Amino acid sequence: MNSGHRTRHKRGQKFKRDKKGFFFTCCCLARFGFIDKSRMLLPHTSLLPGSWLPPFGGGAHSRVDTTALFTTDDISRWAQAESSQYDGLVAARPFDGRWDEFQSAIDEACSRWPERGLTCTAPSEASRFSAAVVELLSGAGLPDPISRQLHEDACALGRAWKALCPAVRQLSVKLELFGENVCSRWHCDNFVGRGIVSYTGVVGTEYTRKGNVDFWELQHCGNNKCIIRDPKLVESVAVGDLLLIKGTRFPLPHGTARSIKASNALVHKSPEVRFDQQGGVQNRLVLKVDVYELPAASGPARGGDKKP
Ligand SMILES: [Fe+2]
Repeated sequence: MNSGHRTRHKRGQKFKRDKKGFFFTCCCLARFGFIDKSRMLLPHTSLLPGSWLPPFGGGAHSRVDTTALFTTDDISRWAQAESSQYDGLVAARPFDGRWDEFQSAIDEACSRWPERGLTCTAPSEASRFSAAVVELLSGAGLPDPISRQLHEDACALGRAWKALCPAVRQLSVKLELFGENVCSRWHCDNFVGRGIVSYTGVVGTEYTRKGNVDFWELQHCGNNKCIIRDPKLVESVAVGDLLLIKGTRFPLPHGTARSIKASNALVHKSPEVRFDQQGGVQNRLVLKVDVYELPAASGPARGGDKKP
């Protein structure tokens, strides 16, 4: 079992609003003495995963901040204590272009979706969740082979969330097509968590470790260049990989101040728009299985922290 990390894609980021000059960034304000940035930073060391107790109460564990994701080939390990050390989990399963031959059929089907996306709220119980996904897919009009893959993956992600949070009653399932309509600002999701898989496109979700993030910039500015300390430490998952992401409402470890919202949330963003050799946008079909909230007094399955 591999718990190491991969770096498939590293590069600098360019936030498009830079070009338009809309943002006189906080970096600039600090540089010219309008604000004292050092006094406004969150307590950074407390944001490093090695400095907090894991949410399942297994306080003996800690790790060096070398990667944000727990890498495995089995997403059921999402509910195991070892994954609590990380901001997310990735099960490597690169498609290597398996669905690219369906791209035009996917684009055509997605063009009929409202706002390029379909969504449903599915009960978390396995058979009812499966039925809800089948119904969603029946209205999607996608080719059968990729529909079967989407159903299988949605159910796997649903099981992973249900195993981690047995009390969760509903999950949100989304099918979306991303072309030029991406918001590629670095952020943390403001809910419990997300499972996400890309089926077409060039690359999947980009992410980075917490030590590479200026959290004051993340929360107060819009400039990607200011948020990321070293662009070479940006990583990405592959098209096909199953990615599970913790959000800001994921249960916090004991003793962690709720105000440090990013303490176990993955810092991530959509990949930049990619174009083919003819200049056309390379669309990315994406499946999401999200947990927006947990019932009161519930938490991860392995005990310890029962706070929402
Ligand atoms: Fe996100």
